[in-house]
Amino acid sequence: MGVSSRVRTALNRDVGSRDIEFIGIIKTIRTTLVDISELPSKDYTTVLVQGSGTFAVESVLNSTSDRDKSILILASGAYGKRMKLICDKAGIESTMLLFSENEPMPLEQVREVLKTQGGSFGAVAVVHCETTSGILNPISEIGRIVKETDDKLLFIVDAMSSFGGVVADFTGVDFLISSANKCIQGVPGFAFVIARIDKLVECQGKATSLSLDLYDQWKGLEGNGQFRFTPPTHCLLGFMEALNELATEGGIPARAKRYQENNRIIKEGMKKLGFRTFVDDANDGHIITSFYYPNNENFQFEEFYDRLSDKGQLIYPGKVTKADCFRIGNIGHLFPADMYHLLDCIELVLKAMHISVPVS
Ligand SMILES: Cc1ncc(COP(=O)(O)O)c(C=O)c1O
Repeated sequence: MGVSSRVRTALNRDVGSRDIEFIGIIKTIRTTLVDISELPSKDYTTVLVQGSGTFAVESVLNSTSDRDKSILILASGAYGKRMKLICDKAGIESTMLLFSENEPMPLEQVREVLKTQGGSFGAVAVVHCETTSGILNPISEIGRIVKETDDKLLFIVDAMSSFGGVVADFTGVDFLISSANKCIQGVPGFAFVIARIDKLVECQGKATSLSLDLYDQWKGLEGNGQFRFTPPTHCLLGFMEALNELATEGGIPARAKRYQENNRIIKEGMKKLGFRTFVDDANDGHIITSFYYPNNENFQFEEFYDRLSDKGQLIYPGKVTKADCFRIGNIGHLFPADMYHLLDCIELVLKAMHISVPVS
């Protein structure tokens, strides 16, 4: 994940959180996010939430829940499971269907559960790109099933690691969540929720948290245009420039194309080096890829990571539960040349670790 010098330069100044200029920037960010989601601007608004992505997920789950109904969580990895944890901590009733980490969600099962138990749920929540493995969940199909079951059922999507970098149809999504530092290529500091206005209005008075009350946060932003509590000013300045940069690149389709190309180079190169992917190509996204550890006694992930890090290459440890994997992310201000360079570094590191290539 890299940030461009353009974004770094933009955030390198101070601005008052109540300045007219800053209030204008907040407004532009909010409307631009709705525009790029391609959801109808008359029906949707953006609520900005200080903190990391999890804060926004927690804000949505806490603020939308009618405590008399349960939230159905469709989980295929750590971030789906985290939604369950958020509900448990807040005393919100939830039911989690835990699916395979590397196979497509069984839509018929989802349909059946909603058909037989739909009345007990107030919302269905799912992660778009489950960053745990890299798998892309079929949110359009799930959204259709949810709305066919009952139009009043809320559909909540955590698109943290995909929004801005994957072309997707968000029709039917009531609350779409992402954060500043993923595919929009800003720096960490806030997250955002693109919310259906009529559903947001219904959230009034439901949250049991002051700072994470999505309705109150929205009312604050709509009222005087300001955050209720101290905003991450520098981060927002950087994000505004990151949105300009996205437009210059050609919007989400162009960015998705670059990420796809980055991802293709990584997958092909890694396969040449002998690595196998945890998710097959048909179901994998193009944001992050999980690779099995090679079957070689000289391979220690910590050493592999450290040696790559010494060369300026940062990869991720694995996050799936049933296999030894590591992950390579390819989003951010990264280009094909960066991918080829990473592959060269991996080959050098493997040789230094006395692991012959291709690995087995
Ligand atoms: C899909 C998804 N959901 C939620 C999160 C949590 O975001 P954060 O670490 O910013 O709280 C992440 C983080 O990578 C993510 O990928």
